[in-house]
Amino acid sequence: MSGATLILDIERVAHGGVCVGHAEDGRVVFVRHTLPGEQVRVEVTEERRSYLRADAVEVLRSAPARVPPPCPWAGPGRCGGCDWQHVDLAEQRRLKATVIGEQLAHLAGVTRGVEVQAVPGDEDWLHWRTRMRLATDGQGRAGFHRHRSHQIEPIGDCLIAVEPADVPALVQRVWPPDAEVTVDVSSTGERAVAVGSHSATVTERAAGRDFAVPVGGFWQVHIGAAEVLTRHVLELAGPQRSDRCLDLYAGVGLFAAALAPHVRTVTAVESDRRAVAAARRNLRGLPVEVIGARVDRWLRSAVNADVVVLDPPRKGAGRDVVTRLAATGARSLVYVACDPAALGRDAATLIALGYQLVDVRAFDLFPMTAHVECVTLFTRGAV
Ligand SMILES: C[S@@+](CC[C@H](N)C(=O)[O-])C[C@H]1O[C@@H](n2cnc3c(N)ncnc32)[C@H](O)[C@@H]1O
Repeated sequence: MSGATLILDIERVAHGGVCVGHAEDGRVVFVRHTLPGEQVRVEVTEERRSYLRADAVEVLRSAPARVPPPCPWAGPGRCGGCDWQHVDLAEQRRLKATVIGEQLAHLAGVTRGVEVQAVPGDEDWLHWRTRMRLATDGQGRAGFHRHRSHQIEPIGDCLIAVEPADVPALVQRVWPPDAEVTVDVSSTGERAVAVGSHSATVTERAAGRDFAVPVGGFWQVHIGAAEVLTRHVLELAGPQRSDRCLDLYAGVGLFAAALAPHVRTVTAVESDRRAVAAARRNLRGLPVEVIGARVDRWLRSAVNADVVVLDPPRKGAGRDVVTRLAATGARSLVYVACDPAALGRDAATLIALGYQLVDVRAFDLFPMTAHVECVTLFTRGAV
C-alpha cells in the first residue's frame, strides 16, 4: 500500500509529531503535516500489519490553527527536522501539553494538567538552535535528512538555527562525502564548524559560570535552555547543606555546578570521554567528584544519596537504573526528560517503588518540532 493515497479524517495528536486517523480496514494511520479536526488526502509512506504511516499531501478541510509554514524546505517528503511548521505557535504548545499528559496517564497512571512554557531567547520561535548537525550526500552537499530516511534534503537555510550559525554559508560549500558537519554557536560568541569528532572546545556561560564544551559535544541546544533548566532543577531539588547529591548523565557539569555551592557533595557521572574531561575542568574548586562511567554500571556498586538529578538521553534511564536509584535512599529525584514516553515508563517504575510524582514542568526548548523538555520532581518519604 506504500505510495497509495487515502482520504482521512484526523482525530487526535499522538507522540512523535504525528496525528492519528483510521484507514477503512480499521488500521491506525500516523499522519505527518496535519492537525486534529482536519480532513486530508494522505500518501502512505510505510505499511505495517497493524498500522500505516503517511504524509498529508492535500488539505481538504483545514484546522483553524493551520498556518503557512515559515520554512520553504518543510513539508511532505522534504526536510525531516521540524514537525509543526504548519501549526500556529500557541497550538504547538497545546499539542505538546496533550502528548505529555497522555503519556503520563497511559504509561504511569498519573493524571496531570501540564502547561508548556515558552523559553526566552527565540524570535517568534525561530532562530533558537545553537547546535546544528548537517549530513552530506555522495557529492559532499550538506543538508538535512528527510523524515525516517537516509536521503538528504538540500536546503538553502535553516530558520530554527541561530543566525550566527550561518547555515547558508555551510550549504554552499563542498564537504567530504557522506559525512556529518556540526556547527556550534556558543553564548560567548564563538562559532565552531567541524567534520566528525574534534578535540577543540567552545566556552558557554550559564548560571554565572563558564563551561568548556567539546565542539560537536552535548550542550542544551536552545539559546535559553541552560539558564531555564538550571533554575528549575535547583528549585525542585530543594538542596540542603548536608545533602549528598548525584548528577547523572552529567554532560560537562551544568547541573552539578548549580547544585555544588548549596550542598555537601555532588557526584557527577558521565560516559562520554570528552565531556568527562571538560566537566573535570569546569567543576574545579567545587565539592564535585566527576566519574567517567556508564550510569548503569556505576550504580552496581553501593551508592547512598539524598538528592538525585538525572538527565538521561532520549531513551530514558530504564528500569534497571531507576530501580538502583530507588535503592540509593534518595528523598528527591529531579528527572529532566526530553521524551515524554521515556519519562512515562520511568515514572511508572519509580511510582511502583514508592515515589510520588509531585511536580511536572514543561518547556518549549524545541519550537517548530514535536520535541519538548520536562523537569519533574519525584519524592519518597517525608521531605
Ligand atoms: C541529555 S544529555 C544531559 C547533559 C547535561 N545534564 C546537560 O544538561 O548539559 C545526556 C548525557 O548523558 C550522557 N550519557 C548517555 N548515556 C550515558 C550512560 N549510559 N551513562 C552515562 N552518561 C551517559 C551523554 O554523553 C550526555 O552527555
